[in-house]
Amino acid sequence: MKFFIDTANVEEIRRAAACGIISGVTTNPSLIAKEGRDYATVLKEITEIVDGPISGEVEATTTDAEGMIREGREIAAIHKNMVVKIPMTEEGLIACHTLSQEGIKVNVTLIFSANQALLAARAGAAYVSPFLGRLDDISYPGIDLVRTIEEIFMNYNLNCEVICASVRNPIHITDCALAGADIATVPYKVLKQMMLHPLTDAGIEKFAADYQKVFGKE
Ligand code: G3P
Repeated sequence: MKFFIDTANVEEIRRAAACGIISGVTTNPSLIAKEGRDYATVLKEITEIVDGPISGEVEATTTDAEGMIREGREIAAIHKNMVVKIPMTEEGLIACHTLSQEGIKVNVTLIFSANQALLAARAGAAYVSPFLGRLDDISYPGIDLVRTIEEIFMNYNLNCEVICASVRNPIHITDCALAGADIATVPYKVLKQMMLHPLTDAGIEKFAADYQKVFGKE
């Protein structure tokens, strides 16, 4: 399973990229609003840090296919690695179909059912983003959706990658990997949690204490 980072914070992206653990980036209107910076400028900066798929979403207030197609072309023009993120609606599918036919990669987002994922893949999406955490929030196990989508895509050999989104904790990550998901897009906070283990910290402290007892402080 590959990791994308789910953030529009350039510093977080730099840190994760320096570790060599991320293959791409996803953003969304909420993450962009949190940064309070010009969207196109942020996306351009991100393309200079990560050489992999970077999802930029059409404006949250754009709901018609024509508007999404226009904005999608603008996002795609920023850099060859840009992927246009489009919400799962009927208008979104029209936009996905048109942009995909032009050779622009589309990530259909806000996927909450297997049928939505299947439709998006048929409309030409390169990626679908099921939202695990938000399903868990309403007492439906989000991971079940990921498993179902993976199974369906395998049945038909669909050329569409599954990006597990709305990932909230390290257990989500292990579950996604076990489900055979292609990608998990992970907030920086969760990437940090994945790196940590109390026994690792305790081990580092013990090695340092043992060393210093004999050799003193460097
Ligand atoms: O990738 C989608 C993600 O950013 C949504 O996460 O935690 O707001 O459900 P969350």
